[in-house]
Amino acid sequence: MTLINKLDMIHLGNCLDLFKDIPDNSIDMIFADPPFNLKKKYRSIKDNMLEEEYKEWTVAWLSECVRTIKPEGSLFVHNIPKWLVHCVSTLNDLAHFKHWIAWDAPTAPMGKSLQPAHYGILFYGMEKKTKIYEMRYPHKRCRKTRSCNHLLKDYGGKKDTVHPFGPLVSDVWTDIHRIKHKKFRDNHPCQLPIHMLERIVLASTDEGDVVLDPFMGTGTTALAAKRLGRRYIGFEIDPTYQELCSRKLEAETFESKLGDAWVGFYRGEVLSLRNEDWEAVKEYFEIPACSWGTAIDFKAITLKKDIKNSLKDAMSTKSSKQRKNNEQNNTKNAV
Ligand SMILES: C[S@@+](CC[C@H](N)C(=O)[O-])C[C@H]1O[C@@H](n2cnc3c(N)ncnc32)[C@H](O)[C@@H]1O
Repeated sequence: MTLINKLDMIHLGNCLDLFKDIPDNSIDMIFADPPFNLKKKYRSIKDNMLEEEYKEWTVAWLSECVRTIKPEGSLFVHNIPKWLVHCVSTLNDLAHFKHWIAWDAPTAPMGKSLQPAHYGILFYGMEKKTKIYEMRYPHKRCRKTRSCNHLLKDYGGKKDTVHPFGPLVSDVWTDIHRIKHKKFRDNHPCQLPIHMLERIVLASTDEGDVVLDPFMGTGTTALAAKRLGRRYIGFEIDPTYQELCSRKLEAETFESKLGDAWVGFYRGEVLSLRNEDWEAVKEYFEIPACSWGTAIDFKAITLKKDIKNSLKDAMSTKSSKQRKNNEQNNTKNAV
């Protein structure tokens, strides 16, 4: 029996061994967030390989990703630029480069200049034609004071023609923040924000597609997949992390949907939306008038109150459960 028949599970083990049980061309999308070889304190592995060793290991798991992804499927690799350039030189021979997404994840500007303030997410297709959907995110607005809420971009004097929800997502992501507060994160050194994975899953897969993550950590990719009606397969080498994400996945019941459309939420508003779904979901929003000098410049689009309330109920039960879980996990793992 291959692991493709054991969907919606996090499998314990070394990804290079577990990949052997995944058939060729069977996965729709892989998101890989390996250790960055920066001496982070993981429980089961030492994050300090020799450079050559790390590069060889990277080639080995990247080749497995390429082997197992379907021809119209895609691969996303998250890492620091230093290692992504090696991934690029491997992947350019095996697959089709689509984008290098810069995730702006600023740190305090202290210490030294040219301090890393972004991570890269490589996006490769297996064939020239790859499944990909146009995505929108809400307009960025001035946050200096409560009343200052106007659009940050001037859109070359064409604010009256902007899309009421927000612009198309570019390859620079500045609207997704790292999880800083302890109460929102698990006891793991590198947990990614779920809304980042929701955007990637929405952009590259359809309902029912199979998403694989060979370095599952706290289960972010699988949680995003589950909330968005996709199937998942996860690999994780550490039993504590594997148990942690399995427990989180079991407790996850939230369907990230507006009407019939899958969307990504953040703090009770939509953060990621497929362009093609706008017509179907616009009835759920309070849309400010869209002409120059009037509402849209100063007023953000928001979900209608009743939608927001029902979402709040679903999310607050979830987040109090999540906080409780985090507290339990943190206590359990604090030895
Ligand atoms: C950067 S973290 C992933 C974090 C994850 N994206 C999240 O949001 O929680 C990398 C994870 O890969 C796991 N890992 C490291 N080497 C592995 C291997 N050879 N096979 C499977 N998992 C591995 C580590 O234990 C760690 O949890």
